[in-house]
Amino acid sequence: MLELKNVHKKFGETTVLKDVSLKVDKGDVVAILGPSGSGKTTFLRCAGYLNRADSGKLIIGDEEYDLKKIKGKDLLRYRSRVGFVFQSFNLYGNKTALGNVTLGLKVAQKMKKEDADKIGRKLLEKVGLSDRADFYPSKLSGGQQQRVAIARALATNPEVIFFDEPTSALDPELTGEVLNVIKELADEGVTMIVVTHEMEFARKVATKVVFMENGEIVEENNSKDFFEHPQKERTREFIYKSSTWAADAQYDGSGI
Ligand SMILES: Nc1ncnc2c1ncn2[C@@H]1O[C@H](COP(=O)(O)OP(=O)(O)O)[C@@H](O)[C@H]1O
Ligand SMILES: [Mg+2]
Repeated sequence: MLELKNVHKKFGETTVLKDVSLKVDKGDVVAILGPSGSGKTTFLRCAGYLNRADSGKLIIGDEEYDLKKIKGKDLLRYRSRVGFVFQSFNLYGNKTALGNVTLGLKVAQKMKKEDADKIGRKLLEKVGLSDRADFYPSKLSGGQQQRVAIARALATNPEVIFFDEPTSALDPELTGEVLNVIKELADEGVTMIVVTHEMEFARKVATKVVFMENGEIVEENNSKDFFEHPQKERTREFIYKSSTWAADAQYDGSGI
């Protein structure tokens, strides 16, 4: 359904992505794991065309986009097919929750305010925020802001949503409410690629897990086999360390 092909990216002289390829089926939830600096954000940003890749393609349905350059007329269509949720929410502070969710519909799709608001309110209800539609981001908790951002990403009815560490800017007690929303979307069959450090989420919600390091995919597998039978020593080590760390954090009750 969706395929990223040979995504290559350099920053200056440093190669950050070395021909990364990934296939995603409809309804898949792909978790991308990996240490900091391994290129996860860059990969998502190139896939979402927020950064230009040096080369690479994204195939979605039967259309192919060149991630080095998507031309103006294709870009609008591309943008409506691919949603993005950032680590830091990126909401407009001068717009209400509803205003943030409906902006793309009103501006990019030129929908009438009335129609856009109807969709926006439905989506806010879906993420459990129907009573917060008229609140500005500064009056919302981090978890609520991120749920608004998810509603915004859903507004254009994209075929896939990319999440870049959607919970890592949140206090531990707010992480669950955001992961629950993502889990509900997974249950509904929304196709998603989620960069995350949440191992339990990857284990329980993801259908497929990808481990990246140094700009390359080290290992990928269905979620069960990834965790139960990792093939590479480096993957085993990463899973072990991340899981021990999580267990420790839980044990002393101090969170991160
Ligand atoms: N805008 C940028 N300019 C230069 N180097 C960058 C830029 N963004 C990321 N990098 C570098 O690319 C590498 C991968 O970063 P990133 O994709 O953010 O990794 P991750 O999300 O896995 O932590 C890092 O070495 C980082 O320093
Ligand atoms: Mg990152």
